Amino acid sequence: MKTLLLHTDEIEKAAGIIRSGGLVAMPTETVYGLAADALNGQAVAKIFQAKRRPMDNPLIVHIAELSQIDDLVREFPEKARKLAEAFWPGPLTIILPRSDKIPPEVSAGLDTVAIRCPSDETARELIRLSAPLAAPSANLSGSPSPTTAQHVIADMDGRIDAIIDGGSCSVGVESTVITLAADPPRLLRPGGITLEQLREVIGEVILDEAVLHPLAEGQQAASPGMKYKHYAPKANVVLLKGDRTAFLQFVNAHNDGKTAVLCYEEERHDLKLPYLVLGKEGDYETQANQLFAVLRQADEKGCQTLYAHCPSVEGVGLAVYNRIIRAAGFEVISLA
Ligand code: TXA
Ligand code: MG
Repeated sequence: MKTLLLHTDEIEKAAGIIRSGGLVAMPTETVYGLAADALNGQAVAKIFQAKRRPMDNPLIVHIAELSQIDDLVREFPEKARKLAEAFWPGPLTIILPRSDKIPPEVSAGLDTVAIRCPSDETARELIRLSAPLAAPSANLSGSPSPTTAQHVIADMDGRIDAIIDGGSCSVGVESTVITLAADPPRLLRPGGITLEQLREVIGEVILDEAVLHPLAEGQQAASPGMKYKHYAPKANVVLLKGDRTAFLQFVNAHNDGKTAVLCYEEERHDLKLPYLVLGKEGDYETQANQLFAVLRQADEKGCQTLYAHCPSVEGVGLAVYNRIIRAAGFEVISLA
């Protein structure tokens, strides 16, 4: 199939594709999403094929206005209302008991549905002109999420109907996912809205084990997406724990022509091997914004091993850590 590349002034054309059951990659403030009409099970099934995504991994439904949620969920508890008021439109996904209208392809057999109201104006307009949209990240399953239209083209050209080019995504990592179908509420995936911000609005929120640790054998994932290796470039990513001196010493001893380093801005001048800069140490917003583009660049450089810092887990740093440790398949070296 030929994939159309559309500009942001061609949203009506994209909406027509959605209304007739097709697939459109759209920009959002987090990452590009691969959208289909969320209430059309056949259209949603095509998303799984195009991404080669396991069918047991449910999708997020995107809405443009809060009023659209009434059809999609059975309950809208007080805590959900507070979170929606505080953070929508924006990079927060809320899991709630689903209504009968949600096709089984969207919820992957679960009794819940994930809902998000994105702030990106192109995404909102597309939803207004078509329908609530089921949309996972627009990458091939397992590879880094796309933060530019070029990333989407690299993975999806010829596999989907159209891509709307809305430039670079501002947040750069996927939305924060919280479930309110559990009591107390549980953070399943960290993102641009931090754990601290969520607790300020609704009080107690538990950090799901799977955010920081690999699942034990046979353990059920609260969020099915967490059981798969994710965000992985072709290079073998290894996370290094230790202070800067130990980090520099270790990586500089591995200048073998096949290795590169994911480093902080402050370190570039002390490195004796190829590097990619994530951002300043402690500037988690920039790190989140750069992470997926930089992981894709590691592949363009053709390196076999990519050593990365172990980021701190505060604020948006938790989201950066969560993505890097998955890209590394939980492979960590502790430096003395
Ligand atoms: O920022 C984002 O959330 C992007 C943009 C496009 O909106 N979307 C995105 O979708 O990251 P996806 O499919 O790549 O990640 C959705 C995650 C998966 O880990 C999935 O398992 C989880 O949310 N999820 C979806 N519905 C769920 C449910 N009902 N219960 C538990 N986890 C759910
Ligand atoms: Mg994804």
